[in-house]
Amino acid sequence: MSARSETRESLGFQHRHLLGIEGLSVAEIDFLLDLADGYVEVNRRADKKLGLLGGRTVINLFFEGSTRTRTSFELAAKRLGADVINMSIAWSSIKKGETLIDTAMTLNAMHPDVLIVRHPDSGAVKLLSEKVNCAVINAGDGSHEHPTQALLDALTIRRRRGALKGLLVAICGDVLHSRVARSNIYLLTTLGARVRVIAPPTLLPSRIERLGVEAFHDMRKGLEDCDIVMMLRLQSERMQGSYVPSVREYFRFFGLDHDKLKAAKPDALIMHPGPMNRGVEIDSELADDIDRSVIREQVEMGVAVRMACLDALTRSLQAAAEGEEAR
Ligand code: CP
Repeated sequence: MSARSETRESLGFQHRHLLGIEGLSVAEIDFLLDLADGYVEVNRRADKKLGLLGGRTVINLFFEGSTRTRTSFELAAKRLGADVINMSIAWSSIKKGETLIDTAMTLNAMHPDVLIVRHPDSGAVKLLSEKVNCAVINAGDGSHEHPTQALLDALTIRRRRGALKGLLVAICGDVLHSRVARSNIYLLTTLGARVRVIAPPTLLPSRIERLGVEAFHDMRKGLEDCDIVMMLRLQSERMQGSYVPSVREYFRFFGLDHDKLKAAKPDALIMHPGPMNRGVEIDSELADDIDRSVIREQVEMGVAVRMACLDALTRSLQAAAEGEEAR
């Protein structure tokens, strides 16, 4: 396949960047999920290579550690035929004091088509997107948003349950520091799922109900009749001081085990964005239970979703360039 020529009207996703789920419409989310669904099948073939992004350059710029997101974006871009650069922060001029914006403008001068950015500060990726000409994808900014994680979670649920509308989803654990929780709350509520958040009071943002969710401090009450149980990692790297009495106490009250899971529906699916802290937020055996846990499937969906996002954004770039030319 070669690069396409499409009118702006035929596009289901007309944004220059993907910075978050907040503000996306049902149609835009469905467009990305439908596109990703097709890529799941491509990724299961022996020959996974397409030429859609031939000639395009994608740069991975990760200021925080990552296994799943960085690798899957690299795979996604390569499977679509793009050239991919993984910038190593440890060996970059950032170590000599170069700022985020100077780094972005330096990379921008090399004419990349897509910058994929992860940063520990909420809002940093948006700031960077305002300084460059290329498309920017937020691969996680502080505790703000992680849009492609929410999309891959939605694709996993949709393929298992058919639709998200009407499902009862519990997001449990360190909601306070979780960009995954925030992006999932926006996406799930937009697509008509009911969302509960379950955490100790210290790990819930104040007035979280404003986002359209119900808050619980008791796992068994919160999990009652849930279709989906989404566990979150305790993000100790974002904590200053103590948010829980001890890891042991935390697992006792908020860790997912067989006993607490009984409160949810008998066929409730267990999800976790990874990386997992086994024995902290989730019982190790339960995490590996192939009858309940879809954690590995989430990873698989990650590649397809990131292919869809790269595809959609480069279509949008191309349409914008064609629009400029026609003027
Ligand atoms: N879920 C997620 O973002 O994982 P990584 O930190 O490994 O990318």
